[in-house]
Amino acid sequence: MNIVAELKERFRPAVAPLVADPEALLDMIRPTQNVSFGDYQMNCAMPLEKRLGRPAQEIATDLVADLKIDDLCESPQVAGKGFINLKLRTSWIEQQLEEARRDERLGVLAVTAPQTIIVDFSSPNVAKPMHVGHIRSTVIGDAISRMLLFRGHRVIRDNHLGDWGTQFGMILYGMQNFSRQADYEENPVRELSRLYRLVRKLMDYHESTEKLPRRQMELQKCEATLTKAQAARNSHDPADKAGLKKTDKELRRIESQCREFRDEIRSLQDLLSAIDGDVTLSGLTQTHPDICDSVLRETALLHASDPARLERWREILPKCREDIQRTYDRLNIQFDVELGESFYHDRLDRVVKDLEARDLARKSDGATCVFLPDFEAPMIVRKRDGAFLYATTDLATIQYRMEMWQPDAILYVVDFRQGEHFDKLFAVARNWGYEQVHLQHIKFGTVLGDDGRPFKTRAGDSVGLEGLLDEAVTAAAKVVEENDLQKEAGPDFTPQERASIANIVGHAAIKYADLSQNRESDYVYQQEKMVAMKGNTATYMQYSFARIQNIFAKGLIDIQALRQDPHSKIRLLQPAERALGLQLLRFEQALDEALEDYRPHLMTEYLFDLAKNFSDFYNDCPVLRAEEQDERISRLLLCDLVGRTIGRGLELLGISVVDRM
Ligand code: ARG
Repeated sequence: MNIVAELKERFRPAVAPLVADPEALLDMIRPTQNVSFGDYQMNCAMPLEKRLGRPAQEIATDLVADLKIDDLCESPQVAGKGFINLKLRTSWIEQQLEEARRDERLGVLAVTAPQTIIVDFSSPNVAKPMHVGHIRSTVIGDAISRMLLFRGHRVIRDNHLGDWGTQFGMILYGMQNFSRQADYEENPVRELSRLYRLVRKLMDYHESTEKLPRRQMELQKCEATLTKAQAARNSHDPADKAGLKKTDKELRRIESQCREFRDEIRSLQDLLSAIDGDVTLSGLTQTHPDICDSVLRETALLHASDPARLERWREILPKCREDIQRTYDRLNIQFDVELGESFYHDRLDRVVKDLEARDLARKSDGATCVFLPDFEAPMIVRKRDGAFLYATTDLATIQYRMEMWQPDAILYVVDFRQGEHFDKLFAVARNWGYEQVHLQHIKFGTVLGDDGRPFKTRAGDSVGLEGLLDEAVTAAAKVVEENDLQKEAGPDFTPQERASIANIVGHAAIKYADLSQNRESDYVYQQEKMVAMKGNTATYMQYSFARIQNIFAKGLIDIQALRQDPHSKIRLLQPAERALGLQLLRFEQALDEALEDYRPHLMTEYLFDLAKNFSDFYNDCPVLRAEEQDERISRLLLCDLVGRTIGRGLELLGISVVDRM
């Protein structure tokens, strides 16, 4: 039951005759800030005042008179300027909870019109080890898929692996030039990743050498502009406040641009001097001056099905995938299909020809481009040298997915920095005839280190995901141990039990820390904080769940039996019971809100609020020591619903619970 959706439907017949576009008005039903006004508030009378030319209070009174809502609410009150206050009947809340407690799905209905939705997520480039950046797409995409599935949609989880790109050219080059056979035989993926990193460094060196003087020039220009702007600022008429504000804003923009150039120059210089200071590496930069071109050639040969390259690729790909699979297993991530970029290679030529035939693409400077009216630069679908691009593959992928699954929507859970790529991709796809399918880039921000910069190791590499998971489990083990040692009746876990709980808690911590952020924000990776027992953490949520199971264990309650017992009843007599009951009923709404624009943090917020409501209830209302038997049973049933809602909510986020903690 989505209460707000239900209230909306009740208001619809009253609001619809008044305006042509009732939706926006119906969206004005909100939970009240203050319980003394009731549970919900409908605020649409105020904006109607102007449109209808009548006082808002009068409109509100008329709306209330037309409302058929008796079964659900006590009689609605018009207050203040024209607010309509709604208080749900406690008996109605009880009745809904009765239904929820007997229902496997906690009263959440499946949608009546399920959609087919493809979720493109995780999608790492496989020849390099997974790093912290991959956590976001993987975890957010998984949570979105789980929530959509639970809501009743058909979901196809597709891991669009980068298994065909330049990184393979790098590895091929590395294998030819720097391979250590014995290391490769011992641990192929470690050796491949060493090769990848080595080649990356050498390429970075040459690219940075080229870039540095360009950036220095740009900085000089930027600083000159800044000096001019500062002079203009100083001679600006102080009385012209608006003008000054504008100038200041412009000044700040230029300053921040200069800062960006300076930062970039510093990091280019750091990179160069780190390599110059390393005798072996700097020697290699000398002996491999053309490495960037060579890597491109290797990639091109692979794409042209050169037998030696293709054979190598076929040999290393399964090894890379195995390595990635280990991480997925640890995180309990599954896909329905894993069609990497290589799968689409044979279709690319046809895609380009089709775009040309429809006059969507044309040659420009030797490259084949799709020009888009709303974009400065065209989308290149084939380079001058004949190579296809990331974008070409993405177009072929859309075509394939449409043929294969006729989806209603395709969601791409990818770093925000690819925003322009997806804007263009979607524009081209629409021109190409895929107008019906809803295409959406589910953007996310960056994982930052303590210094506010993208999370890196001291050596400047991005942090490996496996190592991070290990560290989180170790940190969780400490928390689990501390908690166990503090128990009144003494510790009750064996070392094995502690380890297995820490394993669940550690992995959950990383996921939850990520999911509890609005996906578009950057966040700072704080290991201590995310495994902590207190605060909005997975550990706290898991602890709340375990605490409830502990109540049942302590009271020797067979909760399954009680749940099914037809004579047991939920009664909401105390304010804390009613508040908890209402919060329990908001689960479906939280799910809908989290799915509206695919923001899992709205689910974590809901769960956190639920846990807080539960704490209040638990403080105010004795459960096992309740005075009367009816009361005790009712409270046990509430505890059970809270536990199941937390468990289900966490499951929808891909997080497991433990019965004891
Ligand atoms: N492999 C890409 C990367 O690591 C992400 C792919 C996202 N999905 C897509 N269909 N483009 O940047």
